[in-house]
Amino acid sequence: MCGIVCYIGPREAAPILLEGLKRLEYRGYDSAGLAVADGENTCLVKEVGKVSRLEEKAREAGPRGTMGIAHTRWATHGKPSVANAHPQTGENDKIFLVHNGIIENYLVLKEELKKEGHTFKSETDTEVLVHLIEEYYEGDLAAAVKKVLGVVRGTFGIALFHRDSPDRIVLARRGSPLILGIGKGEFLAASDVNALIRHTNQVIHLKDNELAVLNRHDYAISDFQDRLVVRETETVEWGADAADKKGYEHFMLKEIFEQPDAVENALRGRLLEGEGVSRLGGLEGVLDRLKSMERIHFVSCGSSYYAGLLARYVFEKITGFSVEVEYASEFRYRNLRLDEKTAVLAISQSGETADTLAAIREAKRKGALCLGLVNVVGSTIAKETEAGVYNHAGPEIGVASTKVFLSQCVVLTLMALLVGRYQRLSLTEGLFITRALKKLSGQLRRVLESAPRIEEIARRYARYDNYLYIGRLYNFPIAMEGALKLKEISYIHAEGYAAGEMKHGPISLIDPEFPTVAVVPRDSTYDKMINNIQEIKAREGKVVAVAVEEDEEIAGHVDEVIPVPRSIDILQPLINTIPLQLFAYYVARERGCDIDKPRNLAKSVTVE
Ligand code: F6R
Repeated sequence: MCGIVCYIGPREAAPILLEGLKRLEYRGYDSAGLAVADGENTCLVKEVGKVSRLEEKAREAGPRGTMGIAHTRWATHGKPSVANAHPQTGENDKIFLVHNGIIENYLVLKEELKKEGHTFKSETDTEVLVHLIEEYYEGDLAAAVKKVLGVVRGTFGIALFHRDSPDRIVLARRGSPLILGIGKGEFLAASDVNALIRHTNQVIHLKDNELAVLNRHDYAISDFQDRLVVRETETVEWGADAADKKGYEHFMLKEIFEQPDAVENALRGRLLEGEGVSRLGGLEGVLDRLKSMERIHFVSCGSSYYAGLLARYVFEKITGFSVEVEYASEFRYRNLRLDEKTAVLAISQSGETADTLAAIREAKRKGALCLGLVNVVGSTIAKETEAGVYNHAGPEIGVASTKVFLSQCVVLTLMALLVGRYQRLSLTEGLFITRALKKLSGQLRRVLESAPRIEEIARRYARYDNYLYIGRLYNFPIAMEGALKLKEISYIHAEGYAAGEMKHGPISLIDPEFPTVAVVPRDSTYDKMINNIQEIKAREGKVVAVAVEEDEEIAGHVDEVIPVPRSIDILQPLINTIPLQLFAYYVARERGCDIDKPRNLAKSVTVE
């Protein structure tokens, strides 16, 4: 959730670190800091708030030196403050350390260290780590780190250096990503490729329980048992400009508008149109096993959970699987049947979500076939699952997921199509779906053309403090996702509901100040949705409807209509998603919210 950037090479480190931090700011933004060493002196600068504030402070402090580490924080232990910001230092300010993750047994360790005379300057678990390393340090920083990591429990990605050997950065990982960037005559490291890509596209992903030492002229990776690790560099396929705003006011808006491309990328080379089936290279090795499964579980969090919820309806419609969808954070508490007849699919944009990872590890232990659907190549979930599929949606920087959510829905449909064609789905039905998929990106482009109309509606509706979102069947998960988008970025209270549940409670909320967003496609649920809308109108509730262009009736029932092109029932929710994203975006903008960095949120949730 926090971000790490490190640099060692011939150039001044501070500008590189600050620029890298800005690219990681979407991962955490309540405080930031850096430490830069020039061989003799080390300059430590920390500040509360965004990286721009750190930049101002750094301008005054003028850190000079060609090696350094930096961090942007999302508070877990201790409030956002200069003292709690990283880098953290030890008793005698010799070791400088940045940390992503959580040290679970830090309180016990802290008490022990206090008894030995250590005093602490911060409330962080990270500072405990530094003091411990100091205790174990006998001239070899990497050796001290290895010893300490045998003592601490929890997750970490750490980077540190010692004032006495300012030509060396040590990195270690367990459960929190760290990537080395191998440049020309220089080395970088970061918790996310975004921070490196301006400088090099040659990267190495550290694995759990590995440690790396970056020197001025080379680097070495070993495991915690001191065995040398030799690993090839990987080439990052997207360039730095993919992570730029390209003239859009916010990353979120840019990513909403990138959705037709994200869908094309998700489909590229994956549709066998003549056979009405899909081809997913990442699943080929396990296809025979997958086809013979009885059950599939989708595990995920947040928007990725809603993608799973939609996929449940799609899989039930076109495959023979029985389908379960579970929040990854709840998965481990259930006593589910997870055996060789069960596939578990982790759906995760980042591929690093701690709960989703924990769910996969639990499923693996019980013998299930574990698969992944992730966007970030080389991420932990991608590495820990037996097989899987990438979204290829490019980097998503806006904290609220948009293009990756849509891409997940597309890839999940492709998976259902693949399995379904070996089970109950006929050629004709398969062709029906592949043809509709081919048309999807064009239809999404048409929806995006209605952005000015949605902006105008959003401006008028931005003053309300509560919202209900309703839908049925395939559009129920979309209502949930729409409500999540609104609450995440505008801080408006919004509830997503299956429309049929309205009468069982939430209708009591409805009054003229409590509007409803209704997703009303022309499918088998249409008449029932109209009944729900009439019930709302009878209580003077305002209704904004997302409905298909051919629907001439809907305008007579609601206050506002956002028309969208029509697709087949299982793909209609994908089209309906875009107006809900745009509505949330424009409402949040009207209310002056920090859209790309909503309060209290971070892009990648790497703690449970
Ligand atoms: C919402 C959002 C989050 C994520 C969730 C899971 O807009 O982005 O709800 O979907 O934190 O993250 P991933 O997909 O990275 O596992």
